[in-house]
Amino acid sequence: MNKILIIANWKMNPQTLNEAKVIFEIAKKAAKENQNAEIVICPPFIFLADLTKHLKGASSFQLGGQNCSWEQQGAYTGEISPLMLKTLGCSYVIIGHSERRCFLNETDEMINKKIKAALKAGLKPVLCVGEKEGEDVGLVIERQLKEGLKEVDDVRVKNIIIAYEPVWAIGSGRACSTDDAMKAVLLIKKNLTKLYARNLAEKVKILYGGSVSSKNADVYIKKVGMDGLLVGGASLNTSEFLRIIKSTGL
Ligand code: PGA
Repeated sequence: MNKILIIANWKMNPQTLNEAKVIFEIAKKAAKENQNAEIVICPPFIFLADLTKHLKGASSFQLGGQNCSWEQQGAYTGEISPLMLKTLGCSYVIIGHSERRCFLNETDEMINKKIKAALKAGLKPVLCVGEKEGEDVGLVIERQLKEGLKEVDDVRVKNIIIAYEPVWAIGSGRACSTDDAMKAVLLIKKNLTKLYARNLAEKVKILYGGSVSSKNADVYIKKVGMDGLLVGGASLNTSEFLRIIKSTGL
């Protein structure tokens, strides 16, 4: 049986390594106790080198980056390469998060370059897609998938994960309705089958993100049929995060 993929996006939190270690260890214990889930922690880069030393001991417990460069090395001040993340022990990397699209003007073209660089380094990219309030969800998903996955071939698409994160749902407490989440899954699948052979497109994991809490987490998994969750704010609240993990168990 496929494990539910639960990715914790800590964003620019917490403030200290000690706090990060506490949250990390609690999540690791939860990964050991909940074999139905694969749990991926995406902390700020600065904590990765330390946390990676404590990764062992739970087989379904991984680290990921929140972003990466589209180059593997060189004169790119302030950037972190996918190869560096991989060498450090990361398995995943979030790419195209709406906060980076909005605040840092990341374009679909930049995101596509990052996806290809991450795949080349052996990471699994988590491509975030989703509409802003008032935008046409169908058009946005179509464009973000088509542009984001340009030149990603049939062989490499197996390592891609798509996270549907409507921008208006992120950090707002207004999680997406079941019906809208189902529509988004269908749209993502339809667009993937335009780009790839059906048997490959169907294997791509689809996650939901945006105000996930213990009150709604199980609905996206059990009712909507999502393969997992991308959890922001609630992943830093250890008791809430544990409830989310537990609630997705069958
Ligand atoms: P949220 O964030 O769970 O705090 O809404 C999700 C995300 O930004 O990935």
